[in-house]
Amino acid sequence: MEQQIKELRERAGAAVDGSTNLRELDDVRVKFLGKKGELTALLRGMNQLSAEERPIVGQLVNNARREIEDLIAEKNSQLKASELQAKLASEKIDVTLPGRRIHEGHLHPLTLTLNRVKEIFVSMGYTVEEGPEVETDYYNFEALNLPKDHPARDMQDSFYITEEILLRTQTSPVQARTMERHKNNEPIRMIAPGRVYRRDDYDASHSPMFTQVEGLVIDKGISFADLKGTLEDFSKKIFGEKTKIRLRPSFFPFTEPSAEVDVSCVMCHGEGCKVCQGTGWLEILGAGEVHPDVLKMSGYDPDVVSGFAFGMGIERIAMLTYGLDDMRLLYDNDVRFLKQF
Ligand code: FA5
Ligand code: MG
Repeated sequence: MEQQIKELRERAGAAVDGSTNLRELDDVRVKFLGKKGELTALLRGMNQLSAEERPIVGQLVNNARREIEDLIAEKNSQLKASELQAKLASEKIDVTLPGRRIHEGHLHPLTLTLNRVKEIFVSMGYTVEEGPEVETDYYNFEALNLPKDHPARDMQDSFYITEEILLRTQTSPVQARTMERHKNNEPIRMIAPGRVYRRDDYDASHSPMFTQVEGLVIDKGISFADLKGTLEDFSKKIFGEKTKIRLRPSFFPFTEPSAEVDVSCVMCHGEGCKVCQGTGWLEILGAGEVHPDVLKMSGYDPDVVSGFAFGMGIERIAMLTYGLDDMRLLYDNDVRFLKQF
């Protein structure tokens, strides 16, 4: 019996030693110390022993149990430590690796330009008005002194939906819409940004859909000098202090007198280059003193108040501020281009 116990203890020791992981070790524990294990089987055999032998053998079995338990506990902590070590090694994080960048979106150069234009006029006390892109013939033309047979309509030949409804060709209809909302010759100082549509080519300086910002100021004694001063101030703010402007006589049925306004080329500062086609100047807008008939049609009295209006092309201004030589860059949605703003 004594021999058996000794032999069992040695086998248990070897099995504990040979365990390579916690699971194997637990199998060893069950095999030797479990309810149906070898040591328990030995204890069952004790009833064949004599009364003198029993306590002695009992003692030996208990000692063997304690020893095996100690061996298992020791092995257990060894295995746990090395498993943790292995886990740490396999899950190691290289904190020196550069992180994955999140690419943030940003506003389109056209939107940036529009926002800048709005900011400048709002800082001068202008309100921002809106009008529909699908407009009536009345607001787009008639209220602007362009009756049905007027030849100036041809220049803006457009996208008609019915005889009386079209995609607006300019932001000028917002002039009449805004005046109609006011009574008693109330002063107005507003801009109206938005999309406009014309049956135009799509080339380096034209698009059939483009963006305008309309401006309208009405009050007592508003003169052409006020218009010039305002546009000069605006041009310096958006293109820089050195910018000069030039007014050329022009014609719009809704203004009298009318002018087209050029700015000194921001690329060459007036020397003449590819962007300004050698002239040193670039047209950015049309403008003029509001025609008395236009005031009358929208409920204002031209004997009491006067006003000026202007309409600028935002694509043109974006091209100038960013030095673009082709308008289509703004609409191609090429990320290599868009990324630069
Ligand atoms: C007008 O549209 C007038 N409504 C402007 C105006 C308003 C005059 C108030 C008087 C009083 P015009 O057709 O010239 O004018 O257009 C104004 C600006 O829009 C031009 O100077 C140009 O910068 C821009 N523009 C015109 N056509 C196009 C186009 N096809 N693509 C891009 N920009 C254009
Ligand atoms: Mg023009």
